[in-house]
Amino acid sequence: MSRITNLNIDEIKDSELLQGFDFNNYDEGDHERWKTLLAGVTTAQDGISCNSYSKGMSLLGENFSDLPDLSELNNKMEQQTGWRVMAVNGILPCEDFYKLLSRKIFPSATFVRDWHSTAFTGYPDLFHDVVGHLPLFFDPKFSEFVQKSSQLIYNILIKTPEGAEKEKMIQNFSRYGWFTWEAGLIKENGEAKAYGGAILSSSGETQNLKDRGYEKFDLLEVFNTAYTDKEYSCKYFIVDSYDDLFASLDIIKTQYNIQDSIH
Ligand SMILES: [Fe+2]
Repeated sequence: MSRITNLNIDEIKDSELLQGFDFNNYDEGDHERWKTLLAGVTTAQDGISCNSYSKGMSLLGENFSDLPDLSELNNKMEQQTGWRVMAVNGILPCEDFYKLLSRKIFPSATFVRDWHSTAFTGYPDLFHDVVGHLPLFFDPKFSEFVQKSSQLIYNILIKTPEGAEKEKMIQNFSRYGWFTWEAGLIKENGEAKAYGGAILSSSGETQNLKDRGYEKFDLLEVFNTAYTDKEYSCKYFIVDSYDDLFASLDIIKTQYNIQDSIH
């Protein structure tokens, strides 16, 4: 169960973000699995990762050659990007998830996936969260997109009463998250590169992308495309630049009649 259930997000103090986390609890097997995961992904990422990812990786000053200490990563992230990492064990209720991201707090799992899940894990682990997502937050534009989209989605969800309409919204926004920050592609010098964390942290997902190809990002198409986190993505969508993502926020605002000054 997630620790988050014991904490009020509005009152979380910085000192509580890594509460219960102890780097010394990782055993030899965890370190070994981490290295195997990294070796597979480093080869798979070659030629696939976007510029902002490679840049973020070097600004982070990490090659992740060994399992990283979340508290050290947390300090580096906060100093350089304003993002902080929160250790969680479990999937968060979706409103809590968006609320944390809107406050530039990134919830990260702490466990390292099992051997049988090295190419694919439907359940995000430390490797996925850290290697797949953290470097992107060094790109100010991408960082702003995650923060603003999460704020917008949170605002829409809290004003919507529970029921079928809200369930449909949650489904749409899950698909939006999946096909952007998890499985998203961006065009760079005419080539498709990945900014999605699910691709950047999985050798299997990267191969699946090469096999399936991609199509142009279209918000309505994204809302209408089902995905499951139990297998590789059925589709991939490419944006020309992160501006396309901001443009999609404007469409969402119009669609859900939001007239605030989020963006
Ligand atoms: Fe993720």
